[in-house]
Amino acid sequence: MERNDAERKIEKLRNQLEEYGYHYYVLDKPLVSDAEYDGLMNELIELEEAFPELKSDTSPSVRVGGPPLPHFEKVEHRTPMLSLGNAFSDQDLRDFDRRVRQVVGDEVTYSCELKIDGLAISLIYESGRFVRGATRGDGTTGEDITQNLRTIPSIPLRLKEAVSLEVRGEAFMPKRSFEALNEAKEAAGEERFANPRNAAAGSLRQLDPKLAAKRHLDAFIYAIGSVEGKELHSHHEGLNYLKTIGFKINPESAYCESIDEVIDYVNSWLERRADLPYEIDGIVIKVDNVNFQEQLGYTAKSPRWAIAYKFPAEEVITTLLDITLNVGRTGVVTPTAELKPVTVAGTTVKRASLHNEDLIREKDIRLGDSVVVKKAGDIIPEVVNVLTELRTGEERPFSMPTHCPECGSELVRLEGEVALRCINPQCPAQIREGLIHFVSRQAMNIDGLGEKVITQLFEHGLIHNVADLYKLNKDELLQLERMGEKSVNNLLASIETSKKSSLERLLFGLGIRFVGSKAAKTLAMNFPTMTELRRASYDELIAVNEIGEKMAASIVSYFEKPEVNELIDELASLGVNMTYKGPKPIGEEEIADSPFAGKTVVLTGKLQALTRGEAKEKIEALGGKVTGSVSKNTDLLVAGEDAGSKLTKAKELNIEIWDEEALVKAISH
Ligand code: IVH
Repeated sequence: MERNDAERKIEKLRNQLEEYGYHYYVLDKPLVSDAEYDGLMNELIELEEAFPELKSDTSPSVRVGGPPLPHFEKVEHRTPMLSLGNAFSDQDLRDFDRRVRQVVGDEVTYSCELKIDGLAISLIYESGRFVRGATRGDGTTGEDITQNLRTIPSIPLRLKEAVSLEVRGEAFMPKRSFEALNEAKEAAGEERFANPRNAAAGSLRQLDPKLAAKRHLDAFIYAIGSVEGKELHSHHEGLNYLKTIGFKINPESAYCESIDEVIDYVNSWLERRADLPYEIDGIVIKVDNVNFQEQLGYTAKSPRWAIAYKFPAEEVITTLLDITLNVGRTGVVTPTAELKPVTVAGTTVKRASLHNEDLIREKDIRLGDSVVVKKAGDIIPEVVNVLTELRTGEERPFSMPTHCPECGSELVRLEGEVALRCINPQCPAQIREGLIHFVSRQAMNIDGLGEKVITQLFEHGLIHNVADLYKLNKDELLQLERMGEKSVNNLLASIETSKKSSLERLLFGLGIRFVGSKAAKTLAMNFPTMTELRRASYDELIAVNEIGEKMAASIVSYFEKPEVNELIDELASLGVNMTYKGPKPIGEEEIADSPFAGKTVVLTGKLQALTRGEAKEKIEALGGKVTGSVSKNTDLLVAGEDAGSKLTKAKELNIEIWDEEALVKAISH
């Protein structure tokens, strides 16, 4: 075939397959038989093989999966991927409604959706083409899983409009695919996946897209992260728009005029959820009106305009076989219930934390007891209570030891604490846990260094402190169990990358008492180098907002220790970054002086120098509030190119109007 003919034929096949795929996977209304579809797909693949220069990232043929990746790249989200506050009862929903109405008034209406139990994803389209897909990660940084997401047939590769936008949704494994996958795994003598969510997560974490392609995943899109040049007034309008441009939207969502209607919707799904072809773990309730959403705003973690109703946790009875003890990073000794394995909410539970001695006494938990177990928030196993009526008399009370089960030194109970602690700084358990903490996601975020690998490294004597991590070499790592050449190379690469982490990650990773990840960030912003922080006095520390006396004292005494200073110097000499790399903090005077302080600002039209999200962030950091529509409460309108109705309205209302240049000037000094 001539190249020209091939090109035409390829384009025709792509359009046809796209349309058939859309009808099959998105609308669930097939136009042709599977055999016909497969036939056309094979024809397309053959032609693309014969004319490789005509291949395209958005061709339906990429659904079969491309070549494996060496590792996933990290990607920063344009705006953080937040989580949702939880409601567990009708009362919680009514409280939510009351809080909402206090802010926006009684006109509020809600959009209710199923809470799909899968994996949050972000998809970016440029001029209608799918260019990047990522996992949620820690909310700020996720992993680039574009290749795997392309294999999900309901995720459009080209939209029906050439728009640029980011959408968010949930990738999941339908119940039927999950069962088939587990049957196949069992037949092959492999371990089953615990639940569809783990199976979906495992599939999307495959570096080989061909494997992901075989897992029959699906995705519902439930929100627009940002869209250029389009005004949306309500959540349900957004969903309809998403549907018209080719996304798969969950068909069960409902528009509710009152909280009573919301509660009816929620209750109706308590029974019906079992009949759905996919798993849900609750209902998401969102304030429908976009202006109202903006007025309600966000907490650090979640929007105030939405809430997740979580279905009541399943409770199961099992036997408490034993209580074991764990020594944590800070020396706290935690008793753990060893349970006769039971399935709770889809996964096997063998263990549950009992937290401390007081709790064991309060609940009168004895070895051999029949206990009720549930998963709190559907994740963390918990012993709810003891069924004392089932006691036989064989049960034995439990008492905490007087000495550390790991190093044998005497345990102490610090004043005002319920916990028992091992205060030996050389205790191997504490050192090991400290290492695990150092490499964890919120700290130095070293991929491939989980609890198991750290434990092995520690037990082989290859690492004694966190600096040793940066001295590991290939030969040493190759000695470990299940560590091939490839994983060793990946591991060394991520250790190397971690050296560049911004100061707050290191500070959090070092595990200074009372310094959590948020405090670490505050510290790094105010003392942007390790040298400055080490030198900071108690008074300088408490002068910083958000740093209290307890934390300041702990920091000072931490940096007084010679072994700490030795360790930090060693880390620095091994190339670990000791400076803060994030944005500069904005001082209070700067906010007070800013032209945006206390002002309500509306952005409209196209901006050149920065995105709307960036502009909003800056204005908010400088004490302003950014809303979506012009009203008499608006103080300032920033009009970019091609501003339309908002500009007209602002003029009518005599509102101050700026162009982009004025905005850039105001935010850049
Ligand atoms: S809206 C700002 N809608 O639930 C957060 N989330 O904690 C916006 N989820 O992992 C989330 N179904 O991926 C929303 N219909 C739905 C959802 C949904 C599932 C997940 C989401 C996130 C978690 C929210």
